[in-house]
Amino acid sequence: MKILILNGPNLNLLGTREKSIYGSRSFEDYFEELKEDFSDLELTYFQSNTEGVLIDKLHEVGFSYKGIVLNAGAYTHTSVAISDAIKAIDCPVVEVHISNVFAREAFRHKSMIAPYCTGSISGFGLDSYRLALQYFERMKPKQI
Ligand code: DQA
Repeated sequence: MKILILNGPNLNLLGTREKSIYGSRSFEDYFEELKEDFSDLELTYFQSNTEGVLIDKLHEVGFSYKGIVLNAGAYTHTSVAISDAIKAIDCPVVEVHISNVFAREAFRHKSMIAPYCTGSISGFGLDSYRLALQYFERMKPKQI
């Protein structure tokens, strides 16, 4: 069961970026742990700071993978194009955020992508990704 974790802008800096909000662990390090803990899922990871590259990736995997865990970073709050891409593809997308976006600035309270995602997880630190993967792990094969 192929699942892509897709990270958007500035998430390549996890571990060094605003540690009080995003923690001190790199995603590459955390991804190694996820691969071990979810060995029944075929996990892949991709990150880009570029909107179009994220859209290309959604198109590339969105008709064959079983699910996508998407942290679109700041594009969450702005991108009609990423929202359209999520609408266009077949596979379910779970929106994740490391921080609790609803406890932060007002502009982070709006998600352009949430209406087109299966669900949204926000505020559990890096474990937001883990919760999204648990959802895919527990889904019955016929549902996905
Ligand atoms: C984020 C929250 C966004 O508002 C922000 O722009 C990010 C990270 C999160 O994971 O908490 O880049 O998506």
